[in-house]
This record gives sequence, C-alpha cells and structure tokens, in this order.
Amino acid sequence: MHTVTLINGDGIGPEITAATLEVIKATGVKIKWEEVRAGEGALEKFGTPLPEDVITSLKKTGVGLKAPLTTPLGSGFRSINVALRMELDLYVNLRPSKTFPGIISRYDGIDLVVVRENTEDLYSGVEHMVGEDAAESIKIITRKASERIVHFAFKYAIDAGRKKVTAVHKANILKLSDGLFLEAARNVAEQYPQIEFEDRIVDNMAMQLVQKPWDYDVMVMPNLYGDILSDLCAGLVGGLGLVPGANIGDHAALFEPVHGSAPKHAGQNRANPSAMIMAAVLMLGYLGENEAARRIESALAALIKEGKNVTPDLGGAVGTSDMAGALVKLIK
Ligand code: NAI
Repeated sequence: MHTVTLINGDGIGPEITAATLEVIKATGVKIKWEEVRAGEGALEKFGTPLPEDVITSLKKTGVGLKAPLTTPLGSGFRSINVALRMELDLYVNLRPSKTFPGIISRYDGIDLVVVRENTEDLYSGVEHMVGEDAAESIKIITRKASERIVHFAFKYAIDAGRKKVTAVHKANILKLSDGLFLEAARNVAEQYPQIEFEDRIVDNMAMQLVQKPWDYDVMVMPNLYGDILSDLCAGLVGGLGLVPGANIGDHAALFEPVHGSAPKHAGQNRANPSAMIMAAVLMLGYLGENEAARRIESALAALIKEGKNVTPDLGGAVGTSDMAGALVKLIK
C-alpha cells in the first residue's frame, strides 16, 4: 500500500482527478490518498492558497498527485506551483513529450524529454525597479544546482535506456551565468561516458526541435529555457491536454498535468483527463508500479487511436467521465 498526497485542484481539477483515480483503481494498485486543498478553493475556505498541511502532508508521504490550481489574481500571492517547488526543493521539472498514435499532429514518432532546472535562473524572484522607468530581474545560476540537474538528466537517461543528453544554454552571450551552467554540464558529462553528450545554443535548439526533433533525446537546461522549450515539445505531440510533468527532489516528488485549470470548461464534464492520467503514469513509475503504469499508458494510446471514446478536443464526443469509464474497461 502506498500513501500519496492528493490535491484535486481548481476549475476542471476535480473532474480530471476523479477520472484519474478511477483509472488508477482499475489497475489494482493500492493507494491510500491523503487529500489536501490548495489554490482558489483553499483561499475561500482557509484564507490562504497554500495551507501548511499541504507541505506537511507532502513532506510526510514524499509523493503527490496534483491537479491544476488557479493562482489567485492580485499582488501578494506568489504562484502556488513555484512556492511548492521551492518549499520542497523539487529541483527537477521532468517533461516527457511522446507522440500518441492517433493524435493528429504534423509530427510523428516524437519521444523527447526536457529536464528543466526548477529552482533558480530568472525564477528566483529577485526583481526590483531602478527608478520609475527601469526594472531589473536577476538571473541566478549556481554550480551546485547546475551539477545536480545535469546528474539527474544522465541518471534518468541511463535508467530509461536513452542514448543522448543535450545541454541547452546561451553561453555565447551570457558568458558568466550560462557559461557556468555549460561548464558544469561538461564536467558532469565526463562521469557518464556511456551516454552521448552535446550542447546547443537555445535559439538554435528551438529551430532544430521544429526542423528535426527526431535527432534529440534527453535535453537538460536552466529554468527559463526549460519552461519555453517544454511547451514547444508539447506542441509537437498535440498540445498541453496530453502531456504530464513531474517535479522531483531528493525527498519528495509531485506529479501534475502541465495545463492549467481551464475555468471555462469547469463543471461541464468535457475536460480532457489525458494529461492528468499521464501524470499518474509517471507517478506509478516513480512508485515502482511499472506494470500498472504500462497498462494505463497503452490503454490510453489505444483509446486515443480509436478516437471514439475521447473528449471533444481529441476529436471524440464523450465527456470526461465516459472517457475514464472506457479506459477502465480497456485496463480491466
Ligand atoms: P489553461 O491550461 O488552463 O488553458 C489553456 C487552454 O487550453 C484553454 O483554452 C483551455 O480551455 C484549454 N485546456 C487546458 N486544459 C484542458 C483540458 N484538460 N481539456 C480541454 N481543454 C483544456 O491555461 P490558462 O487559461 O492560461 O490558465 C488558467 C488558470 O490555470 C490560471 O489561473 C493559471 O494560473 C492556472 N494554471 C495552473 C497551472 C498549474 O496548476 N500547474 C499551470 C498553468 C496555468
């Protein structure tokens, strides 16, 4: 029996969470869910979008499954997602983008993984005004954070049977900050001679990913480039409705769909649950439940390929709950 923290989110969150729990249950894997509230729902109920028990639970269980949260508008509220990553030192953002057979996309056979550094770079939140008409945001890159993210990328590549790691940077212009990242990447790469290593300047990487994405495998990069290129990769495989993300640290991991809470679809039983289900697939793999993960992924691929019992954004005509029901049948 595993114990997992569950955050069922805002907007479409509760519907895609219900669908995902049903699908996980169908595999027979036993999970005790520790449910906590965060986001808009928590703000209304407890006066804060990130109550203390969310962090306490995640520190205790070490694993979380999270639906999207609406970040309340207005100053004074940090992004809850960024706060969770910082509080738990979830320094890896892992974003696999893989083509599902049957998805209509200009690209076939994509299988890319972005390993994004999750704690520093321009997301450190160090910003200030210089007088009234200028602003400065500080980009922070440290050797420690760079080395640990590159180590993660290589270890992931080895565990997942992958062949190559590409470090992405802009060291030609940002000679100190990205220069340090690149130097750290090169040093770490020497410890993994069994995996091919190369580097690319981020603008060239963006073009190459559009022109020949099949030439790439695992890519590792600082926070901002990872934010942008992981969405580019999601676009190559059919969009945000399909791709999961994992935030991983040494003591905890949090799995989530990469899309937001899509408030306009909330409560209408038409949100696509695939990204959240794929987040559960990543989570099951992390828990060592590889067979259950494989069964869900292949059932989802078969359902999408058939194209009938899927939500409207995937070309079908059924609701979130019916799509989950069809998946459960396939899994069983
Ligand atoms: P969004 O991802 O919610 O929506 C973007 C577009 O994709 C919309 O047209 C939406 O209807 C559609 N969409 C997204 N997920 C879908 C699904 N599962 N099925 C069908 N259609 C789907 O991004 P947006 O509109 O920028 O943000 C909405 C809220 O979500 C904001 O409050 C934002 O802060 C929050 N957000 C939360 C994230 C998280 O918790 N990880 C990530 C991104 C945004």
